[in-house]
Amino acid sequence: MKMENTKHHRLTSFAETASEAPLQEPDRQYYFIEKAKDIFAEKCKEADRTLTFCVTTFGCQMNARDSEKLVGILEQIGYVEEPDEEKADFVIYNTCTVRENANLRVYGRLGQLGRIKKKNPHMMIALCGCMMQEPEVVEKLKKSYRFVDLIFGTHNIYKFAELLTNSMQSDRMVIDIWKDTDKIVEDLPVERKYSFKSGVNIMFGCNNFCSYCIVPYVRGRERSRDPKAIVREIERLVADGVVEVMLLGQNVNSYGKNLEHPMTFAQLLQEIEKIEGLERIRFMTSHPKDLSDELIEVMSRSKKICRHLHLPVQSGSSRILKKMNRHYTKEHYLELVDKIKKAVPDISLTTDIIVGFPGETEEDFRETLDVVRKVRYDSAFTFIYSKRTGTPAAVMEDQVSEAEVKDRFDRLLKEVQTISAQRCAIHEGTIQKALVECQNEHDPSLVTGRLSNNLLVHFPGDPSLIGRLVDVSLDECKGFYYMGKMKDTE
Ligand code: 5AD
Ligand code: SF4
Repeated sequence: MKMENTKHHRLTSFAETASEAPLQEPDRQYYFIEKAKDIFAEKCKEADRTLTFCVTTFGCQMNARDSEKLVGILEQIGYVEEPDEEKADFVIYNTCTVRENANLRVYGRLGQLGRIKKKNPHMMIALCGCMMQEPEVVEKLKKSYRFVDLIFGTHNIYKFAELLTNSMQSDRMVIDIWKDTDKIVEDLPVERKYSFKSGVNIMFGCNNFCSYCIVPYVRGRERSRDPKAIVREIERLVADGVVEVMLLGQNVNSYGKNLEHPMTFAQLLQEIEKIEGLERIRFMTSHPKDLSDELIEVMSRSKKICRHLHLPVQSGSSRILKKMNRHYTKEHYLELVDKIKKAVPDISLTTDIIVGFPGETEEDFRETLDVVRKVRYDSAFTFIYSKRTGTPAAVMEDQVSEAEVKDRFDRLLKEVQTISAQRCAIHEGTIQKALVECQNEHDPSLVTGRLSNNLLVHFPGDPSLIGRLVDVSLDECKGFYYMGKMKDTE
């Protein structure tokens, strides 16, 4: 009888719990956080310890920010963070599907988790993020990974508290995936990884449909957040100790087009610049086709926008760029880069490049190398083309052979690395402001700071400096980072 009593709460059906929930967001989620707290407390009593969680993030900064939202809710419910996922009672994978090997990694690690779950009766596993938006993935999980407790997607992540409550009250796999949404829910709890810097979503989704890319299918249509909500969020972050923000969107340059009162990204930046106490502004990612003169002008005048622009080129061949549906040519891109370098001479430029897009010839590849040599990127992320089912490129003819792709990839990497080491070296002997981010992992007598241009510098200092902007002399270039010394700031 007693047994039944203690279990009573868990056996309350989710339908019953949900019947009293407010319909309005975010109130509805705060209601479920309270419900989840009660269920969690009972689960802890049963287990005779405080249950732990581990959120593992795959992919980009958007996912990293989403994970902070998951952590915020879990901590409100009472879960305690456990960095080792093999020891945690609740493991969440926030997945990425931009390239196929990201998917393969998730399946591999999930197999391992399944074995661990057999030994821990309190363990729960949830999967979310971009990979879950693919119907084949969910089918496979339903068939071969029955031990997963909860699956949700990118559009309903704001409903995490509700979904978790459902899952805790259910013995079955809970699955909730939406195809798309126009909803943006504000003001939910978030737990930042760093106290002094934060990502801030300014828009969600992508409308570009680059022919190789799965993002528009899994993240849905472009939606911009209300500028007032963005400014309010940053003001709160600053009041809470944040000095640097990274504005996040798949294509920040098209921010504001679909707002009730349209505004440009450059205008938004100017509003954010006015926020007192905020020291640094970063943003990512910029699509070259939408980068305006207005933005270049605002960057050149700004005291807070960092001297770093990530401008993915993807390929240097106009023919391939057309097949990629990128809406610019090699010449346009180079002109744009010239314009930016003239207006902001100390800018650091970084990029993404795909090698082995269908139909890419040696000639096309040399155009890419040519762009790399002309732009002289401070750093570049290089990717081997990965075929994503459902994208137009997946059915294009002339997929490039693996051996050719590998050869091109190696040649590109060498070029990129040589140039970025030279670019890094030009700062030797200068004194620059660094935001101290952490204690050095290998040598605790050092701290690591990030420069405006995104380079890292290691220098003697103690952890009390973390979160402060200090002047550092860049004494010795080590290829892609610096060793330095702190200068008196007083
Ligand atoms: N294959 C390889 N790289 C890709 N990217 C996006 N889709 C693919 C794909 N199918 C790369 C692009 C993008 C970055 C985030 O990932 O370079 O800018
Ligand atoms: Fe993908 Fe292109 Fe959108 Fe970037 S801009 S997310 S590469 S479709």
